[in-house]
Amino acid sequence: MSVRAFSFIIFFYFVRKADCKRIRKIQRFLRFCNFPRTLKIIFQMKSIAVYPGSFDPVTNGHIDLIQRSSALFDKVVVAILRNSSKAPLFSVDERREMLESAVMGIGNIVVADFSGLLVDFAERIGASVIIRGIRAISDYEYELQMALMNRRLSNRVETVFMLPAETYSFLSSKLIKEIASHGGAISGLVPEDVERRLRARFNEA
Ligand SMILES: Nc1ncnc2c1ncn2[C@@H]1O[C@H](COP(=O)(O)OP(=O)(O)O)[C@@H](O)[C@H]1O
Ligand SMILES: [Mg+2]
Repeated sequence: MSVRAFSFIIFFYFVRKADCKRIRKIQRFLRFCNFPRTLKIIFQMKSIAVYPGSFDPVTNGHIDLIQRSSALFDKVVVAILRNSSKAPLFSVDERREMLESAVMGIGNIVVADFSGLLVDFAERIGASVIIRGIRAISDYEYELQMALMNRRLSNRVETVFMLPAETYSFLSSKLIKEIASHGGAISGLVPEDVERRLRARFNEA
């Protein structure tokens, strides 16, 4: 006999002659028998998501996605990919500093970096979700390929695609670097700290 069935028999036995106080006690006991919820409370199971990328540098599009995902998950780990085949403009430490100052006001965000397989990193930190951004159809093909490959590598991690605000749907780190390299206006598209660093970097050159 299941715990639930047993509880119901006890419940109805008492109900016949019980007063209201006793009924409330029994109801509390029954609620306690809701095991998944009880276990969740006991072990404080958290939904952890990882948001991987190059973030070279972080843009307001990335930040928009970070803010949206911070409302959906208990913890979001923004993870800078270390062994990117792309030649980066900023070092991992610089990218981390820029990200950290950009997400300072959001409580449940952590910035990290990783190398190797993303699914291995996700499993290591207990993340069950990978967040990726889709700006336009052009992103979809590559992202789909990555998501399906990651699913093949690990069925414990699920990819979630998110859309930024329309105002950021044309933004990319690559475009920002190109505009900044020609002295174009990038204010409002990246955090002020990033804007300052980009100017400094291209004035040095
Ligand atoms: N403006 C933006 N709006 C929403 N998502 C974005 C934007 N720019 C980049 N992303 C998403 O953020 C993630 C990381 O992007 P990026 O830093 O370019 O790293 P990657 O090298 O993995 O493409 C990707 O999923 C990308 O689609
Ligand atoms: Mg990209």
